[in-house]
Amino acid sequence: MTSRTLVTYPEPPLPSAVGLGTAGLIYGCDYNPEQWGPATWSEDVALMREAGINLVAINIFGWSHVEPRDGEFFFDDLDTVIELLQSNGIGVNLGTGTSSPPPWLSTRHPEILPQVADGTTRWPGGRQAWCPSSPVFRDRALRLVEATVQRYGSHPAVKLWHVSNELGCHNALCYCDVSAAAFRRWLQARYATIEGLNEAWGTAFWSQRYSDWDEILPPRATLSFLNPTQNIDFSRFSSDELLSYYQAEAAVLREHSTIPVTTNFMVTAHIRTQDYWQWAPKMDLIANDHYLDNRLDVPHRELSFSADATRGLASGQPWLLMEHSTSAVNWQPLNRAKTPGEMMRNSLTHVARGADGVCFFQWRASVQGTEKYHSAVLPHAGVDSRVWRESVELGALMGRLGEVAGSTVHADVAIVFSWEAWWAADFEAHPSSELRYLDQVQQLYEALWSMGVTADIVKPGAALDGYRLVVVPSLYLVSDEDAAVITDFVAGGGHAVISFFSGIVDADDRVRAGGYPGAFREVLGVRSEEFYPLGTDETVSLSDGSTGSLWSELLHLTGAEAWVTYADGPLAGVPAITRNAHGRGVGWYLATAVDPAALIGLLATITAEAGVVPIGTVAPGAEVVRRRSQERDYIFVLNHTDQPIHHEFRGFDLVTQESVDGFASVAPGGVHIIRQDRKTS
Ligand code: GAL
Repeated sequence: MTSRTLVTYPEPPLPSAVGLGTAGLIYGCDYNPEQWGPATWSEDVALMREAGINLVAINIFGWSHVEPRDGEFFFDDLDTVIELLQSNGIGVNLGTGTSSPPPWLSTRHPEILPQVADGTTRWPGGRQAWCPSSPVFRDRALRLVEATVQRYGSHPAVKLWHVSNELGCHNALCYCDVSAAAFRRWLQARYATIEGLNEAWGTAFWSQRYSDWDEILPPRATLSFLNPTQNIDFSRFSSDELLSYYQAEAAVLREHSTIPVTTNFMVTAHIRTQDYWQWAPKMDLIANDHYLDNRLDVPHRELSFSADATRGLASGQPWLLMEHSTSAVNWQPLNRAKTPGEMMRNSLTHVARGADGVCFFQWRASVQGTEKYHSAVLPHAGVDSRVWRESVELGALMGRLGEVAGSTVHADVAIVFSWEAWWAADFEAHPSSELRYLDQVQQLYEALWSMGVTADIVKPGAALDGYRLVVVPSLYLVSDEDAAVITDFVAGGGHAVISFFSGIVDADDRVRAGGYPGAFREVLGVRSEEFYPLGTDETVSLSDGSTGSLWSELLHLTGAEAWVTYADGPLAGVPAITRNAHGRGVGWYLATAVDPAALIGLLATITAEAGVVPIGTVAPGAEVVRRRSQERDYIFVLNHTDQPIHHEFRGFDLVTQESVDGFASVAPGGVHIIRQDRKTS
């Protein structure tokens, strides 16, 4: 690329709102200077300033560079890069570098390599090839962390510690003998006695009764179906194991440094191995990575869900988008470039839903290695490119949006979401393999999204005070205590929508006998005696003219009224949607997957009755979200269509820098961010 003269730019605002410094939003990227010679570093940093970048993540995959041989540390390059960033007013998000072990480690200690369920080893040559329970890996990794924090623990440029990288992205589940021993220790702590484990796992079934802890294995590949509780416990153990690894690194960092510590979560449709409800309280700030999944029907709606779930993990406080892409990724079957404006909309959707910063993977597109066809802020084409120009444009806007930092999103609706229920519901040997937990969560989420209703994503058992409506999609596994929170919420005057295959089993995956939906029979005033799942492409007509799919059941009313019944098929005349007055509130049951238009109609009735107030009238294809500070509201209107979209908000648009007084039009694919003074508007 041609060399460019370094011009003077205003100091980029230093990151803050998530507790990292002064005022403003974070605009950042991953930077892998070790992939380039020092000759590019100055140009990189000059261009970062041009783009408005104020936080740069480095040393994410730095281990083999920083410790090229066992116990020999080489920090000179990191010193140079950190100083260069600092002298340009750019903060550092410093990786501990432990994500991928260097070849010398796996060659000397092949016992750190992970094994998959069939007992075969996963070898080096990719990344993250380490067993989460390996004491040898942990020892060497913590030695590197110690050396790194001793060097940079009070460096003024370092704003954040970035532990490892996407813990569990590839190595979440390891089935080796070391993991088996760790799994047994975890089970002993959970159950205390082998009888307790036998009881919880239902080992009377298929002659699985254990007489000694040493007989227990991870759920390795079997000839037939697996014990489901063994499988759920292995998922719990595996999530806890990597969390304990995170905590071990964090403890070393905190011993020598007061800089905040975090790691990047993966709240996404295709990775589900970490129970982030357990992880979140251990983070100094919540950070998430999100990539558009073009295999989905409407990828940007899943982005919104991920952002809302991340806000839930942050307990409603601002959070940080640690990674997303400027354009295509390299790991889907077809890697689509983003359309003009799409990257801006993606970024601002995260901000709208509570992010106080957005960062990209990565700064400069690699020319070697697996990720060379992954987009970057600075693409192969260089600065004469759409991606670069849009990145600079976004950086300038992020600078102008500084006042949004620290404001929060408020919702009348909560959606209960559970990684444990996800693991349990999607397991084998169930009534229908077509029922996928996340699909059910997202169908209800998407209906609310289309209506412009913002929802918080909360964990089972979360306090529901302050919400008007709680939505409970297919919460298959739920403890009695967590189910009672929902029942009590309704009894106290709240409204609930609960969909099929909820409340079925307890935390041990034990069916609640007496009729479905088990834990929610009372609040819903129904009792179901048998499931009638529907085949792919099979539908059933409903009495209001809509259709159901996927699921139906032989439901009896025990207090509820039938709102809609099946109009044909083996269950003709049986209730499909019910409404139950319970205490001072109302519990709705959806016993089938209602078609999308009818679901929106039904939710319009339910939200109106519950007193949920939409932010404004929403045109189809628009996304409207509000952030709120002490004095001001910020209304984000995102136009995902190729037509102009009108809105009637009053205030000042931070994007166009123009006043709007009750009628404005967002250009196709564009965004408005309307600032309103709460006292005067
Ligand atoms: C993430 C990872 C990055 C990069 C990116 C590509 O999973 O943290 O290092 O690989 O995906 O999309």
